[in-house]
Amino acid sequence: MRMIGETAIVTGSTSGIGKKISELFLKEGCKVTICSRNDINVNKTVLKFQEKFGNSVIGQVCDVSDTTSMMKVVDKTIDSFGSIRILVANAGINQTYGPFENMIHRPEEIISETQIMLATNLIGVINSISTVLPHMINQRYGRIITVGGGGGDRPVPHMTLYSASKGGALAFSKCLATELKEREDDIRINIFLPGMIETNLSKNVRVVEGWKTKELFQRDSSLALKYIGTDIEKSCQNVIPYAIPSCKANGRVFRGFSILKMIRGGRKFQKAIKEHEKS
Ligand SMILES: NC(=O)c1ccc[n+]([C@@H]2O[C@H](COP(=O)([O-])OP(=O)(O)OC[C@H]3O[C@@H](n4cnc5c(N)ncnc54)[C@H](OP(=O)(O)O)[C@@H]3O)[C@@H](O)[C@H]2O)c1
Repeated sequence: MRMIGETAIVTGSTSGIGKKISELFLKEGCKVTICSRNDINVNKTVLKFQEKFGNSVIGQVCDVSDTTSMMKVVDKTIDSFGSIRILVANAGINQTYGPFENMIHRPEEIISETQIMLATNLIGVINSISTVLPHMINQRYGRIITVGGGGGDRPVPHMTLYSASKGGALAFSKCLATELKEREDDIRINIFLPGMIETNLSKNVRVVEGWKTKELFQRDSSLALKYIGTDIEKSCQNVIPYAIPSCKANGRVFRGFSILKMIRGGRKFQKAIKEHEKS
């Protein structure tokens, strides 16, 4: 039990990575506020966790892109738990996959989709941090973890727009870390790259027209998951050391996967694709 006495908000915690991080925090004795946009998902997740963890878990419907909505999460957490010591800015959505060249023929559609995605993946990170930070500054303590993603720290083809949102969140978090370093209190922000994990986000991907068929994309995604996919539990376990008082890192990018394994897996993946293409 490494997190007794800790209190956390995990955004986007009714599914996938956010839900797993919440469960791991609860198991370690942390009190957790669950939130996402859908009230049915929030209630379902809270009820499920309450069976095991009792009053250590509460929920609040929230859209991270909306300040009033995020304030409600903050107020409810303070009312119920008395503090917010940890924020995991995890909520995120995906966008159409494929070459950017195939997207530019429908600019209005692409820009409107991009605005929706940026509202969650970039504005949502900035908004959730700005609503929580005043409380952390008051208590002179806080641990913030931004959940990054593919293409945010290095180029990945066919993920231009998602990468732009994740790159923005990474840059914001690193810059904020340099400001926090100047302060005499103990507030730290670090960036988590979970690796490729099968979740609703990765299952419900849209593919741009004129590129791969949905079937071909799904085949390639399954092969990618097989060779470079990451185990969700093992990946999310890596968040705990960055969420507790002993964490002294600030502005660091940490991963839920091994780079060496990823490189080796990448080679196997390319080989498997070639074999499929031959047959
Ligand atoms: N899966 C991967 O391979 C992978 C890899 C690297 C990084 N990531 C990142 O990990 C994070 C979690 O993704 P995931 O794979 O776990 O996806 P997921 O299973 O789809 O979960 C996303 C969660 O975010 C919530 N959400 C979405 N938009 C929101 C908003 N505007 N406000 C509040 N909550 C919102 C969703 O619930 P509602 O729909 O009810 O709002 C859901 O609970 C994302 O930031 C993603 O970019 C994922």
